[in-house]
Amino acid sequence: PENSIIVAIDGPAAAGKGTLARRLAVEFDLACLDTGSLYRAVAAKLLASGGDPGDEAAGAAMAAGLTPEDLERPDLRGEGVGEAASQVSAIPAVRKALLAFQRDFAHHPPDGKRGAVLDGRDIGTVVCPDACAKLFVTASPEERARRRHEELLGRGEASIYARVLQDMQARDARDARRDAAPLKPADDADVLDTSELDAETAFRKARDIVARKCLHREAQDQH
Ligand code: CDP
Ligand code: CDP
Repeated sequence: PENSIIVAIDGPAAAGKGTLARRLAVEFDLACLDTGSLYRAVAAKLLASGGDPGDEAAGAAMAAGLTPEDLERPDLRGEGVGEAASQVSAIPAVRKALLAFQRDFAHHPPDGKRGAVLDGRDIGTVVCPDACAKLFVTASPEERARRRHEELLGRGEASIYARVLQDMQARDARDARRDAAPLKPADDADVLDTSELDAETAFRKARDIVARKCLHREAQDQH
């Protein structure tokens, strides 16, 4: 629909994209899609079947056969799966297989919502270049590693900060350097550095940007 609101949130690992996406979705009554979970589900299925995340044909077949239940797998959030997701996500056939689902979600959001928030790496650049607001959320590697480390400990998983930092930097570098839809801010993105911001302050800044960029048409309609 012409008045629909699409909010794109991109950025490196543990920048706070998902946290922000969920809060913006509630605030503006939008559907919400964590696109990383698609790549994580492909990777988790591949690993569970004994496959290799570098196997392009196997990755493409998994992506093409992905079901909604796959997104509910309990093993998606670990860093091992995150690493494998970064490997499968560099395969163009995998990205292609997941593109239509993401675009359909954005343009025909479920539950009769008036729009959608999607978070990932290439939402503003590739999946939804037509988004009314594009946020590139980032923070220093040390702060992001600290957040992810806390998160893992909170889930009762073993975690070593220095290891999380190292693995995360390697994953971000791979995501930024790949040829297929690399991690980078869209030309028209608003960059939000949350290194020194708590989640509430980051949310308020993002909310103001979305209101300014996406609601002007609705505001004009009322005049
Ligand atoms: O989705 P992404 O991997 O970018 O990050 P997330 O899953 O939203 O996790 C970010 C973690 O950092 C959560 O535990 C948040 O509570 C915390 N955090 C945040 O999201 N935003 C801040 N400005 C500060 C902390
Ligand atoms: O939560 P975190 O930021 O650690 O990772 P994620 O958003 O769940 O994404 C896992 C991996 O999937 C990333 O490292 C990317 O390689 C890939 N991904 C992607 O290529 N494109 C997206 N739109 C989302 C995720």
